[in-house]
Amino acid sequence: MEVCRTVGEVRAAVRRHRERGAKIGFVPTMGYFHEGHLSLMRRARAECGAVVVSIFVNPLQFGPREDLAEYPRDLERDLRMAREVGVDVVFTPADEEMYPPGYCTYVEVLGLTEKLCGLSRPGHFRGVTTVVAKLFNIVQPDVAYFGQKDAQQAVVIQRMVRDLNMPLEVVVLPTVREADGLAMSSRNVYLSPEERQAALVIPRSLARAVEAVKGGERNVAVLREMVRGMIAAEPRAQIDYVEIYGWPDLEPLTVLTDRALLAVAVRFGRARLIDNVVLEV
Ligand code: PAJ
Repeated sequence: MEVCRTVGEVRAAVRRHRERGAKIGFVPTMGYFHEGHLSLMRRARAECGAVVVSIFVNPLQFGPREDLAEYPRDLERDLRMAREVGVDVVFTPADEEMYPPGYCTYVEVLGLTEKLCGLSRPGHFRGVTTVVAKLFNIVQPDVAYFGQKDAQQAVVIQRMVRDLNMPLEVVVLPTVREADGLAMSSRNVYLSPEERQAALVIPRSLARAVEAVKGGERNVAVLREMVRGMIAAEPRAQIDYVEIYGWPDLEPLTVLTDRALLAVAVRFGRARLIDNVVLEV
């Protein structure tokens, strides 16, 4: 496995793989790997001749009062895990490699970013689309892999790729969960044991909504209030949002007809957790 620190190095590494005819699969990450990240790398390994992973805690997507400084990092452990999965190239640039002095170009997707996490984290998606556009230009993958865990991010990236005619395929893979249902996240390390236990109200409330839809409930406000009520009853939970939008267009809905995204963001102590499920009629 090759570990590259600069744009020049990763470009040269990818070029060697492309010259031998390999299809290039790419998994962008912020590191501190868990099974969610590894599931993307394994799928890339199965589908592509070369697998490139980026590890970059992108300062541009963190707000001034967010957790950039505390965001968990362990590069040695990440490299070991990537090697075990069979990753070919890891790109782990310094901040100045991505944003040298004078940097002033940004990519912004409108509409889709003006709800859910876009409201509670102003500028977040602009940071995400800017760094992902840069990474796509640097790596020039044939396929890029994202997780449904960050459902809004996935549709925003798909929209950017379509709107800017970026020549690659975006694959979105299911959310990987702990045995008890909690969605895996690098930020789960922020949880105290009590908060970790309390956070199970998230997967439980999502499952309850899925059951209600199976039982015939179609009223979006009723479903939303049911989930909100369940989470609000947990004293350690502080709700950021509980919303239902059409999937994958994120249009407002009053009645479930086809597919809808039930998405939540909830704080437990200093951890802000997000999770979602697609409700299908
Ligand atoms: P990060 O949070 O490290 O996530 C990297 C990828 O792993 C994303 O596509 C995310 O959706 C996916 N992922 C995270 N948890 C998952 C889980 N439990 N199951 C399945 N997939 C999961 O998302 C980012 O980094 C950044 O915003 C990035 C796209 C790298 C841009 O900086």
